[in-house]
Amino acid sequence: MKIVKQICELKNCISEARNAKKNIGLVPTMGALHAGHISLVERCVAENDLTVVSVFVNPTQFNDKSDLAAYPRTPEQDAAMLEKAGCDIVFMPEVEEMYPEPDTRQFSFGALEQVMEGPYRPGHFNGVAQIVSKLFYAVEPDRAYFGEKDFQQVAIIREMVKQLQLPLQIVSCPIVREADGLAMSSRNQRLNAEERKKSVLISKILLESRTFAQSNNVAETKAFVEENIGKEDIFRLDYYEIVDGYTLQPISDWNQTEYAVGCIAVFCGPVRLIDNIIYKS
Ligand code: PAF
Repeated sequence: MKIVKQICELKNCISEARNAKKNIGLVPTMGALHAGHISLVERCVAENDLTVVSVFVNPTQFNDKSDLAAYPRTPEQDAAMLEKAGCDIVFMPEVEEMYPEPDTRQFSFGALEQVMEGPYRPGHFNGVAQIVSKLFYAVEPDRAYFGEKDFQQVAIIREMVKQLQLPLQIVSCPIVREADGLAMSSRNQRLNAEERKKSVLISKILLESRTFAQSNNVAETKAFVEENIGKEDIFRLDYYEIVDGYTLQPISDWNQTEYAVGCIAVFCGPVRLIDNIIYKS
């Protein structure tokens, strides 16, 4: 496995595989890797001839600078996990390499960015689009892999690929959970023992809401989740929305879509966690 820090070096390493008409897969990450990331890498390795993983904490997607400073960074551990997972090239650039000058591009994702995370994290998806498009231009992958925990991010990246007419396939992969159900996230490391114990209730309530939804309408199901989350003092709910999984717009009737997904963002103590559950697909 090669570890490279510069785009020109990265392109050199990839060019041999590209000239040999090999398939190239990319897994963009911000490091602090866990089993969820590794499941993306393993899928990429299984489906492509060459697997590139980027590890870069992208400053432009953090609207809260203290969140950027607190973001866990574990490069040595990440490299060891990637080697074991069969990754071929790790791209670990410095900020100056990705942003030699400020990126002033403004993307517009319309209604997709006006819901859920949008109002809570202004500029976040623009920053994600900036870095992901830069990575796509640097690697020119045939496929890129993203986790469905960041449900809205996947929809935005698909839209970006459409707008920029990039010739690659976006592969979204199911959420990987801890044994007790908590969705895996690099942020989980920041939960203290009490918060970690209570955090399991998020996935538990979502799962219970799926049973509840079988005999209740959308508004009642939304209220079920909101009320149960509200019972725990440790939680502060940003939103719970039941949306059409393609348009991300809230639905009011189960018959409105074939793909209904519930998306939550909730603070557990000081740590903001997101999760989602598919009601219908
Ligand atoms: O999901 C993430 O880890 C990041 O948003 C991504 C896609 C790697 C872009 O920095």
